[in-house]
Amino acid sequence: MRKHIVAGNWKMNKNLQEGIALATELNNILTAEKPNCEVIIGTPFIHLAKVSDVIDHSVIGLAAENCADHASGAYTGEVSAEMVKSTGAEYVILGHSERREYYNETPEVLKEKVDLALANGLKVIFCIGESLAQREANEQEAVCKAELEGSVFHLTAEQWSNIVIAYEPIWAIGTGKTATSEQAQEIHAFIRSCVAEKFGQEAADNTSILYGGSCKGSNAPELFAKADIDGGLIGGASLKAADFKAIIDAWK
Ligand code: PGA
Repeated sequence: MRKHIVAGNWKMNKNLQEGIALATELNNILTAEKPNCEVIIGTPFIHLAKVSDVIDHSVIGLAAENCADHASGAYTGEVSAEMVKSTGAEYVILGHSERREYYNETPEVLKEKVDLALANGLKVIFCIGESLAQREANEQEAVCKAELEGSVFHLTAEQWSNIVIAYEPIWAIGTGKTATSEQAQEIHAFIRSCVAEKFGQEAADNTSILYGGSCKGSNAPELFAKADIDGGLIGGASLKAADFKAIIDAWK
């Protein structure tokens, strides 16, 4: 059956020393008291190699927050999937709404990134989700389905087994507004039905679908109790070990 996952997305926070300190603190806490779920931390590129050295990878997985849409070569400032993999990271977060919106990442570009990530042995946490205007127009299902079709539904069933989906309604990210657990469950069930239609029921049952958007210790238990919510992708509340641990503990 599918894994329960709590993944942190530090975004553009923490300098190198702060990031190492947070990863070390979290590692100490979670090696002393083993979590009941898979835990992943997503860090900026510059942290990856050092953080990789201070965590026990059997307890904490490591993710990049992006990778390039080209394999290698003259792309000044870019970081390839192969480079990410060479740091010890196991995952890459792709398709986050901030990347789509502020860096104009189109479905086609994301498709390239997904393919390169998988080809280099990385698992992908692929983010989808609607804006407030789209939710108000009741377009959330169409938006999520189109985002899946645009960048990850071309994969083979074998490749699909390395994909984790994160449903993140844009109106809930960093706003303090969480989707209700019913709203989240409804769309998670829809997303799983799309996966079933494409890859079959067994693959759908094995796919972890995370909720993201103002998830914290106080609302995680209610969200994670829902049948189709398999964990969370956590921004703000992943920046302090105690806050992140409170969410991990929702799986106890
Ligand atoms: P948030 O961010 O938890 O701060 O709302 C979630 C995300 O963007 O992954």
